[in-house]
Amino acid sequence: LLVDKGNHRHFMAKEIYEQPETISHTLSHYVDMGAEKVAIRETLPFDFADLSRLTMSACGTAYYAGAIAKYWFERFARLPVDIDVASEFRYREPPLEKGGLSLFISQSGETADTLAALRYCAGQGQHVASLVNTLESTIARESGVVFPILCGPEIGVASTKALTAQLTALASLAIAAGRARGVLSAEQEAELVRALTALPSAVSAALGAEAQIIDISKRLSKAKDVLYLGRGAMFPVAMEGALKLKEISYIHAEGYAAGELKHGPIALVDEAMPVIVVAPSDELVDKTLSNMQEVAARGGKIILITDEDGAESVGHGVADIIKIPHVHSFVAPILATIPVQLLAYHTAVFMGTDVDQPRNLAKSVTVE
Ligand code: AGP
Repeated sequence: LLVDKGNHRHFMAKEIYEQPETISHTLSHYVDMGAEKVAIRETLPFDFADLSRLTMSACGTAYYAGAIAKYWFERFARLPVDIDVASEFRYREPPLEKGGLSLFISQSGETADTLAALRYCAGQGQHVASLVNTLESTIARESGVVFPILCGPEIGVASTKALTAQLTALASLAIAAGRARGVLSAEQEAELVRALTALPSAVSAALGAEAQIIDISKRLSKAKDVLYLGRGAMFPVAMEGALKLKEISYIHAEGYAAGELKHGPIALVDEAMPVIVVAPSDELVDKTLSNMQEVAARGGKIILITDEDGAESVGHGVADIIKIPHVHSFVAPILATIPVQLLAYHTAVFMGTDVDQPRNLAKSVTVE
């Protein structure tokens, strides 16, 4: 298999820039754009309407994809979701209902802990579904149903396009579940499908903030610690942002639920602490912005990722606002991953690290 970097300096940059096309590709598999409906092509050995719970396990970025999808399945399908990192799930041996559904998310399909979690669930009589990029993988082979993410080979150790592809597929599955469970009407489905189909061009527009992000990343590369905050589905986006920064720039970062700030991490905030707030306008944005003001009042250097409406409601207090297009709040977490990817990438470039092959890391963790 021959994959080259094209005009990009790193595979990671190429993979970030491919996302408008890869998301379109994933969408064309899951969505009938003309009919404004989700169309699942895989034969399902279960019925979403009969499930009392969805159990998800994954590692790293794939885990954050599941953590975001939990908000969708619970909200749009009223389906309770348990999600765990696979390395914890496998040894906890949680009780599972026979005939229930477990879903495993893995770009490579070879992650040892995720595979062990899958085998545990299969042993408990669960329906086993997986969401993978590599269809010839062990996880795919051992699954009752395989949902492909179709983003093409991902070479950079830091996962980027696989995440947005996983999210696009998971969003489609959540809509399908919502319809099957009688939670979403045909009109609501059409509205959510339109939100999904608007994504590729919104992602292209979000990539346009690169020059500003380079400028911010230059300052970020001098930081020792960085805090990422988000609320609701933006909380896992914050954790993903922190993971991406850690793994390729080696700068310590933490992703926190914005509402947890007062319960500890606010003690870290001083003039030297950049705080990245992921808060596109949605039902919860005012709450997150008020957490942000608490950081600002303590001298923390805020970098706010938001849209036009969010930027208007903060006024002039914030020096760095990275704007993403305004999209339906359903797909906003997918779009918000774009600036966090670019921030991590450019910070790592300033640090001079080996972006595609960061120290101590493997693309696929096939041993425990
Ligand atoms: C992401 O940037 C990481 N390199 C890592 O967390 C990765 O997502 C994790 O190891 C899971 O890999 P998988 O999707 O191939 O199972």
